[in-house]
Amino acid sequence: TRRITVRDITLAKERGEKWPMLTAYDAMTASVFDEAGIPVMLVGDSAGNCHLGYETTVPVTLDEMTMLSAAVVRGTSRALIVGDLPFGSYQEGPVQALRSATRLVKEAGVGAVKLEGGERSHRQIELLVESGIPVMAHIGLTPQSVNSMGYRVQGRGEEAAQQLLRDAKAVQDAGAFAVVLELVPAELAAEVTRVLHIPTVGIGAGAETDAQVLVWTDMLGLTGGKMPRFVKQYANLREVMGGAAKAFAEDVVGGTFPQEEHSVH
Ligand code: KIV
Ligand code: NA
Repeated sequence: TRRITVRDITLAKERGEKWPMLTAYDAMTASVFDEAGIPVMLVGDSAGNCHLGYETTVPVTLDEMTMLSAAVVRGTSRALIVGDLPFGSYQEGPVQALRSATRLVKEAGVGAVKLEGGERSHRQIELLVESGIPVMAHIGLTPQSVNSMGYRVQGRGEEAAQQLLRDAKAVQDAGAFAVVLELVPAELAAEVTRVLHIPTVGIGAGAETDAQVLVWTDMLGLTGGKMPRFVKQYANLREVMGGAAKAFAEDVVGGTFPQEEHSVH
């Protein structure tokens, strides 16, 4: 079976079909989601917090994103893989964005890239799309701007709502094939979804977006600590893995592992 393409995503909106997206940062996890039928995987720079041990996404490098994206591509055969452009790899302008995106496409093999920003990133999106690289945009809360905007709900109030609508139209006009809406009021996300002809991918953006994305370590209860309200936890891997590690430790200390069946002679 062939990989899902950007064209399939476009058709899904025309057909009114909703679709799920999960993040992935390694080949093995990605292979599980691929076999489960997740059609689109994002190698998010949330890898910074959720995989690499940084405090935010800001320190993540293009080298790191290239390595993680390549692993996710190797671990999958069906999903469309979207690679996140990390902070500092596209803000200088379109040419830098093209150079960075080209690495993710050529070295990692991603089918599309994602970058943050609406109006402020439209020139970057235009050049990438002109060059044949599909772009997923990302507006609302943009975590790479944590130092200036914090982690707050975006688009509250008339002025902010108008700006979000302008951002959404700007990325669509620039040629983005989809747009992530992060932490925006559900009513506003619904309006953006109605106004745009490209699919919206919501995270903390209510039920009316065309697609939903969750960070996989949050969704599976591996992240630990207090989760934002918009996360639904479908499993508790932190408990499962911690319990297994403790059981192994007890077995080793108590001399009950390995048993005869685990031994060779
Ligand atoms: O990096 C990431 O995981 C993201 C999603 C939350 C959209 O950008
Ligand atoms: Na991201």
